Amino acid sequence: MKKQALGPCVTFFPQPATLIATRNAVGQSNLMMASWAGIVSKTPPTMGVSLHESRQTLANVRETGCFSVNVVPVGLVDAADFCGIFSGSDVDKPAAAGLHVNDSDKGVPLLTESPLAVECRFSREIELGDYRLILGEIIDVLADVAAFGPDGAGKALAFDPLVYLGGLKEYWSLGSKQGDAYRCGLKYRK
Ligand SMILES: Cc1cc2nc3c(=O)[nH]c(=O)nc-3n(C[C@H](O)[C@H](O)[C@H](O)COP(=O)(O)O)c2cc1C
Repeated sequence: MKKQALGPCVTFFPQPATLIATRNAVGQSNLMMASWAGIVSKTPPTMGVSLHESRQTLANVRETGCFSVNVVPVGLVDAADFCGIFSGSDVDKPAAAGLHVNDSDKGVPLLTESPLAVECRFSREIELGDYRLILGEIIDVLADVAAFGPDGAGKALAFDPLVYLGGLKEYWSLGSKQGDAYRCGLKYRK
């Protein structure tokens, strides 16, 4: 494979397309598109999100100590993109985009329309230049019964998660299943 150097850039994909839900100190909800988000530890269950220091979302997390990371279904691509263009410091994004934020029984704001929401309690902030790596202890994961319930278990496409191609600035949907993790590689075991 012949490769060309792209330089020290942030081209890397696929990435998740998520909406981070937060509230400010007076309870106003906000949604922010984030692709730099992912699970970073299992013990304890931890989510990492990288936020530019200017984000209203960062101010909200610092103020309230909690946030959620919500998987976006492909049908909400335009509304989610809107939440990646404008700041909650200027616009009531949930209202403008027709999205809703409700609080879990633990008081964490969630995107109502998300089929998979990870509730986090802020645990640590790490400075990375203009960005802050925010670590959140996962206190619960709320999953759509149709995709994760007894009948829907494993039906990831039941909610058609949106995928982001970082560097190309394109949104895609998932293709077809290619294998079972921790199993399909076993054929190479000697
Ligand atoms: C596809 C996409 C992915 C993004 N990912 C991130 C991210 O991971 N971290 C970040 O700080 N900003 C990211 N942004 C930019 C923020 O979503 C954008 O600046 C937003 O207006 C911030 O909202 P807020 O000020 O209400 O928090 C992304 C934008 C798009 C369109």
